[in-house]
Amino acid sequence: MKNLIVVNWKMNPASQKEAKILFDKVKKQVKIKKTEVVVCPPFIYLSSLISIKGGLIMGAQNCFWEEKGAFTGEISALQLRNLKVGYVIIGHSERRKYFNETDDQINKKIKKALAVKLKIILCVGETKGERENGKKSEVLEKQITENLKNISVKEMNNIVIAYEPVWAIGTGNNCSVDETMSSILFIRKVIWKLYNREIADNMKILYGGSVKSDNSFLYTKKSGANGLLVGGASLDAEEFAKIVKSAE
Ligand code: PGA
Repeated sequence: MKNLIVVNWKMNPASQKEAKILFDKVKKQVKIKKTEVVVCPPFIYLSSLISIKGGLIMGAQNCFWEEKGAFTGEISALQLRNLKVGYVIIGHSERRKYFNETDDQINKKIKKALAVKLKIILCVGETKGERENGKKSEVLEKQITENLKNISVKEMNNIVIAYEPVWAIGTGNNCSVDETMSSILFIRKVIWKLYNREIADNMKILYGGSVKSDNSFLYTKKSGANGLLVGGASLDAEEFAKIVKSAE
């Protein structure tokens, strides 16, 4: 199975010019051999970067569940598909937190994105408080079960799950290999229960949360993750190139 590395630029960089410079550097420095690399810039840079994407795959950081109409400020899955975007991140913890995205809304977004043939990167993960209160498994199971409600076995082929402990995102406090491994195993168990063993064994599960070039190999080589979701470290092309290299 090829490792999948997803880059989430979040609300960076500040201008179109900087976005192009960063993208060009990533294209030049990242040597893609055995991995798949998906770059998710802010919406406003997507169309210009798609025209120069080279071997990179483009993704979006979010989408809306309605196709068109009076939804000020939203971008539909269909609009992304028509732009030739390949992937969309859904359910990122920053959206769950700052925009109060519910599991039900996330489920609606996934369904709509699948209907227009986008691939999904579904983010799940527990907060610091939930982890400290021993609620991690419960939280992961609830998120996965509700987010994937009425998604068919066949559609699961187009879904990747990113395990992103909220307390590890952007904090420099990355999750240990052992803990990542047990969370990934738990996620596979939930998928087995909801679907079947084949899907549970074969679906890609990524790790995200303070991934840097000096810890990335731990996840791709030792934790059972099938790739990474990289935020902060992806804004430095050289650092990101090292991360990709470690996953080859
Ligand atoms: P980080 O972000 O790598 O900056 O921790 C990861 C993410 O939010 O996907």
